[in-house]
Amino acid sequence: MAGWKEKFYLTTPIYYANSRPHVGSAYTTLVCDTIARYKRMCGLDVAYLTGTDEHGENIARAAAKQGISPQELVERNWRIFQDLWKLLDIRYTHFIRTTALEHAGAVQKMLRRARDAGFIYKGKYQGRYCVFDNLYVTDSTEPADCPTCGRPAELMSEENYFFKLSAFQKPLLDLYRERPGFVKPDFRRNEVISFVESGLKDISISRKSIKWGIPWPGDEEQVFYVWFDALTSYLTGIGFAEGEQGSEEFRKYWPADFHMIGKEIIRFHAVYWPAFLMAASLPLPKTIFAHGWLLFEQEKMSKSKGNVAYCEPIIQVLGSDALRYYLLRDVVFGQDGNFSRDALLTRYNSDLANGLGNLASRTLAMVERYFSGEIPTPADGADERDAAVESRAAATIRASLEQYDQLAFSRALEAIWELVAEVDRYLVLEQPWSLAEDASKRGRLARVLGTAAQALRTVTVLTYPVLPQATEKIWQQLGQRGKLAEQRMDELQWGQLKPGTRIGKPEAVFPRVDKEEAYERIEAMEQEIRQPPSAPAGALTPTAPARISIEDFAKVEMRVGEVRSAERVVGADKLLKLMVDIGGEVRQVVAGIAEVYRAEEVVGRKVIVVVNLQPRKLRGVESNGMIVAASVGPQGKPVLAGFLEDVPVGSRLR
Ligand code: MSP
Repeated sequence: MAGWKEKFYLTTPIYYANSRPHVGSAYTTLVCDTIARYKRMCGLDVAYLTGTDEHGENIARAAAKQGISPQELVERNWRIFQDLWKLLDIRYTHFIRTTALEHAGAVQKMLRRARDAGFIYKGKYQGRYCVFDNLYVTDSTEPADCPTCGRPAELMSEENYFFKLSAFQKPLLDLYRERPGFVKPDFRRNEVISFVESGLKDISISRKSIKWGIPWPGDEEQVFYVWFDALTSYLTGIGFAEGEQGSEEFRKYWPADFHMIGKEIIRFHAVYWPAFLMAASLPLPKTIFAHGWLLFEQEKMSKSKGNVAYCEPIIQVLGSDALRYYLLRDVVFGQDGNFSRDALLTRYNSDLANGLGNLASRTLAMVERYFSGEIPTPADGADERDAAVESRAAATIRASLEQYDQLAFSRALEAIWELVAEVDRYLVLEQPWSLAEDASKRGRLARVLGTAAQALRTVTVLTYPVLPQATEKIWQQLGQRGKLAEQRMDELQWGQLKPGTRIGKPEAVFPRVDKEEAYERIEAMEQEIRQPPSAPAGALTPTAPARISIEDFAKVEMRVGEVRSAERVVGADKLLKLMVDIGGEVRQVVAGIAEVYRAEEVVGRKVIVVVNLQPRKLRGVESNGMIVAASVGPQGKPVLAGFLEDVPVGSRLR
């Protein structure tokens, strides 16, 4: 049928709208965006849903803490997610908020269907509850402490509505057996099977002590409890609430092809969710894929511990493609992975700036210089070295598409970068810059640059799902018409770059960065996000006014200090750790001056210290103040500020 496309429906979990997303939360969404872009390029009609989970106690508590209503809190916070997704170039097609009116309709419809089928009943709920935090701590009656305040939670009981999960033990086990691809990866499926085999208890799906939720139809004392509400969003977002059968869109896209989730919520997705759907007589999703966690410098990311990494500083310093590439290249998808700024910057410089970026700029610059910006027509025949690049490109297309299909992003990128390295070696060996000096070798020069440009086009198409911004630019620079996003991956082959094509203006897509400096800029911005001056939690830091009042200036306390001792910070080329006497107190201050000043040369020197800055860590070393220096020249070389006269230590600057 002309114009007919196979559908593909993909979801991320919907995010709790009580706190700001970090790199870990962005991970699921970013991976899904890559999958969505890839599937579109394979000719599928993709629906990609994400959203915000806006009900429940955690939202109500966060709002109360800030003295605002839950509605006000979620109104503010859901936009933060949307803004970040925009920054990260996430092209979702559907965004669902659980406070949307149609969502309440969808949840109540699900309930009606399950109730009519006899899977809902009213019963006595017993569990542990913290009266100070209004928190249901556990469904078990065993003693437990509140995770928020640490006080012992009280035994409580109330009338709730229950879902007969126990009735689904056999149907679920049959499902896992008959459809081995239902839960992925395999080791997670095995965990789920053992859990279900050990017996399923009915679950309470409503609460009396919570007010912030979707009302239970016919019982105004109760609201839906989180998971029945949250999971239904996968249906609402594509039009389940509409009419008896759902909207046309719903009928087209449901069941989902992929629910992508983090490993900690697998039970809800692989056990509760198919049971809810079976109870409501709805088709089941094809695959639940649980990925691992992203750790921050080897530890679990935790906002309260302060060890989280945020996306915005990375995007500002390196661009969003860099973060996308790093996460997909360095983390083996499915397993836990580690986020490290060091590794991110190393990858950026080696793979993006020196790798793809350099291949693009040198190839295009030579086409511009030697062939007036026109892809040359190879006059000379191909020799075995050209043929080797061509056959490597063909093998790379096959291998990387296979890896993408298996969600083995890291291996797909590894294969593509082997091609980048091969073309680099080819250019070094062929030396087109030398061929250009000999008019009799023009035919060979045309062949070499044509081959490199052909390979660059192949790499550009293959990496688009991961690097949408940079590849779109290279695509334009290669003089290609139309949108790169609309290219077909499954039709990609050698030779699609036509000789005679006029290229665009070559421009660097990944400028090399000074690792040390980039590290510090990212870290400084991170600290600002963690301790915003006095912005309400969740809101973005406001920009500073261009001019400040004298009162503002007076807030900065600068004093004359004398350096008592100095040493280099291990592993940082630019940093010195100084012990500075500021008059009655010796402060540890880390200064970015090591490229210009040796440690022994600053000992005994008088410096100006900003003494009332929030302490911060640079490369893990605490800095309690800042040394004032001029930043000179394009490289920003530091020159320490000082005095011509002798000034007593501790004197204040005004
Ligand atoms: N609201 C629920 C999901 C309901 S789905 C019907 C929820 N929200 S969440 O905000 O806590 O998590 C959203 C997603 O972010 C989950 O897939 C979770 O696994 C993922 N991540 C949050 N922190 C993470 C890491 N540090 N690493 C990787 N993913 C993590 O759960």
